[in-house]
Amino acid sequence: MTQSASKPAPQTFHVKSFGCQMNVYDGERMTELLSARGMTPAAEGADADLVVLNTCHIREKAAEKVYSDIGRLRREDGSRPMIAVAGCVAQAEGPEITRRTKSVDIVVGPQAYHRLPGLIDDVMAGRDAVDTDMPADSKFDVLPGRARRSGTSAFLTVQEGCDKFCTYCVVPYTRGAEVSRPWRAILDEARALVDGGAREITLLGQNVNAWTGEDDKGRLQGLDGLIRALDALPDLARIRYTTSHPNDMTQGLIDAHAEVGKLMPYLHLPVQAGSDRILKAMNRSHTRESYLRVIERVRSARPDIALSGDFIVGFPGETESEFEETLSILRESAYAAAFSFKYSPRPGTPAADMADQIAAEVMDERLQRLQAEIINHQIAFNQASVGKRTTILLERKGRQPGQLVGKSPWLQSVHVEAGDARIGELIEVDLVSAGPNSLGGVIVSRQAA
Ligand code: SAH
Ligand code: SF4
Ligand code: F3S
Repeated sequence: MTQSASKPAPQTFHVKSFGCQMNVYDGERMTELLSARGMTPAAEGADADLVVLNTCHIREKAAEKVYSDIGRLRREDGSRPMIAVAGCVAQAEGPEITRRTKSVDIVVGPQAYHRLPGLIDDVMAGRDAVDTDMPADSKFDVLPGRARRSGTSAFLTVQEGCDKFCTYCVVPYTRGAEVSRPWRAILDEARALVDGGAREITLLGQNVNAWTGEDDKGRLQGLDGLIRALDALPDLARIRYTTSHPNDMTQGLIDAHAEVGKLMPYLHLPVQAGSDRILKAMNRSHTRESYLRVIERVRSARPDIALSGDFIVGFPGETESEFEETLSILRESAYAAAFSFKYSPRPGTPAADMADQIAAEVMDERLQRLQAEIINHQIAFNQASVGKRTTILLERKGRQPGQLVGKSPWLQSVHVEAGDARIGELIEVDLVSAGPNSLGGVIVSRQAA
């Protein structure tokens, strides 16, 4: 253990989260943890005594960003805040980070951040503060209760980690094995979020539909059981979940889309590629056909459901015709929205060592073609919504004075002239205009339909 100069106790802190919604959730929990220690949040990193960079390791660009962000925290007088690197880069690189830059005081992995207060004490005492354990004592058992105030739309992590080992992906290494949080802990946290003002809860997990656990009567339940239990919370209006794996879409969960009133008609179901040869090389464990059958079953349960997906272009060995199969599965699936990425070789993953890595120019060109099609689908989906009367949940202020932005059941952002309506209200609107990323609406009634 190395010794370095001791530091004064930080009074203020700033948490900055990158990457997926699970990191956003972890960032909120760290904020609650540090607040419980008596520290106050600062709006800007530059003003804080402690900055937590809650990082993402999924692609090289995301992972490298942390080092430029650390550089930017240096103040004009040459001083810097205490810096903690948390999240998936912390897990993947561990002590390597403090070797690469002397400016980092704390390295703490996604399963160990409940120990942040002790690590701050270590820094103050001049001790090394690197903790990338995946401890048996779950962070969830130790974290303080949820804050008394919550946003209109809240995240709730119910499942973590991944056992799927897609050959390109770091998540099984950075987040560890699949673990489901207990039923009662989830329902208690949901109740606290609703009491704090949440009207919508999005259940989170790297493979959220793999969630399983025993209910209060000892019966084995899946995610659909949990959703049905949440449906019974009186002041909760909407339930969503993300991200799902195609192989874990059980019939029970599909049926819930037909039967549970509060479950929103939206499903993020990444496919990654359209060619069976590439899917096999990715170790996705589903085929093009089995994926299309799953979405057919989902659509027959809930015909108006909006689907979204993720795609990777330029996986090692991907030929032009295999890429065209990705374009064709995009067309066949008729997504409401989609996210596409250039393949990024990640250290320690099997795909990084595969032959036939694709040239950067080829990836760029394929990504452009894919994104052009995706935008067309998004525009078509949004335009098809114009003329509908629906309910939106008002979530935030818009850019224009008097404007609020809400979400449709299909996760579209809808801008309205709000009048007396307030954030947190469910209101009935007519959808009157559409762009690629949002819609315009006119309020019909402040009562939800
Ligand atoms: N558990 C989720 C998502 C995990 S990461 C799932 O299985 O769908 C989010 C997205 O990042 C993935 O869906 C994938 O499209 C993308 N991604 C993951 N690893 C990547 C890599 N090495 N290069 C490029 N994109 C990647
Ligand atoms: Fe990564 Fe695949 Fe697991 Fe998703 S299912 S987190 S892409 S290994
Ligand atoms: Fe990134 Fe970790 Fe999420 S790698 S996408 S922050 S699980």
